[in-house]
Amino acid sequence: MNNNQVCYYLAIEINKQKLMSCPTFIELDWSALAHNFHLVKKQCPQAKIMAVIKSDGYGHGLLAVAGHLPDADGFAVACIEEALQLRAAGISQPILLLSGFFEGAELPLIAQHHLACVLHQPWQCEELLRYPVPTPLAIWLKVDTGMGRLGLSPEQLHTFWPQLKNAPQVQSLTLMSHMACADDRNHPLNQQQLRLFADYQQYYQTPASLANSACLLAMPNSHYTWVRAGIILYGVSPFLPEQRLAALPLKPVMRLRSSLMAVVWHHKGDNIGYGGTWRCPQDMPVGIIPIGYGDGYPRHAKNGTPVLLNQRPVPLIGRVSMNLISLDLRSQPHAQVGDPVLLWGQGLPVETVADHADTIGYQLLTNVTQRVARKTI
Ligand SMILES: Cc1ncc(COP(=O)(O)O)c(C=O)c1O
Repeated sequence: MNNNQVCYYLAIEINKQKLMSCPTFIELDWSALAHNFHLVKKQCPQAKIMAVIKSDGYGHGLLAVAGHLPDADGFAVACIEEALQLRAAGISQPILLLSGFFEGAELPLIAQHHLACVLHQPWQCEELLRYPVPTPLAIWLKVDTGMGRLGLSPEQLHTFWPQLKNAPQVQSLTLMSHMACADDRNHPLNQQQLRLFADYQQYYQTPASLANSACLLAMPNSHYTWVRAGIILYGVSPFLPEQRLAALPLKPVMRLRSSLMAVVWHHKGDNIGYGGTWRCPQDMPVGIIPIGYGDGYPRHAKNGTPVLLNQRPVPLIGRVSMNLISLDLRSQPHAQVGDPVLLWGQGLPVETVADHADTIGYQLLTNVTQRVARKTI
């Protein structure tokens, strides 16, 4: 038997015996997703809700998230591959391609599957205007109001809007833009973008969409026809650390769990982990958890990043390895192999872990790798 065959038979054996080879997994709480969705609905009762589920549903599973949001008015994805998966799974709501098409050759499929499409570049507008579509498309024309990334300039908007409005390829036209600094309620760019967008919307008297999660919570004048709700649906605050709403009753959908795999007693002065960046200040127990950056736990998590062991916080120490981290167990010297660990989720917001790793919750959620098992609560 060669190596591959051995692995194959071992995998079957593990499955048969319902063994779990590694105790690290994510739990997905779909009732939390429904709860967060209803919170969004309450927040903007007049608007339609476009659930943003790109990047594999922010790491929660594209099809699973869509399937658990039956009341969403539409789904936003990054590209056609994600949209076609949704259609193949029987999702019939409107689906919006946030990046539009990358080449005109995608247009027949876009039309065939009734996908709504953002146009953000002049070449995309020209390509569509040249293309004889069998069924007219729902087009979202994106204008750059200050993000400085994708979107037509005001001049380009004024050129293409009337052309698209009257084109047989276009079934409906929605004006859209994206906010650059909505996570900071006090940022002056917010008011500037809101004003510019309001001017365009009034001028064209059109259905419109501007709000992401932060806007839909903090700026009621950004709601318009559609809100594009992403991170909030997954139960994560979109705001800067100092502006998070403690009172907002969001529920995290994802829990990243594991258990203690070893307790090692160290002497004062011993190094912990790669680079010897942490030294034991006294004789002490150190806990090892089978998770690391190869699973999606952030390598840049600093000393002191909280981890819940037996539902109580203990600090991470030393560098995060590919599949292991170390914990300071001085506050729980009697912890035992097998004791439950929560890396983030209900009780330890992913935002808090992200703050300790100089990143954002979005990145941590989308970075959990496929090797981490998934369970539904
Ligand atoms: C164009 C666009 N709209 C809406 C969203 C959703 O943003 P959030 O997850 O902050 O709600 C995103 C996410 O990146 C986006 O790119």
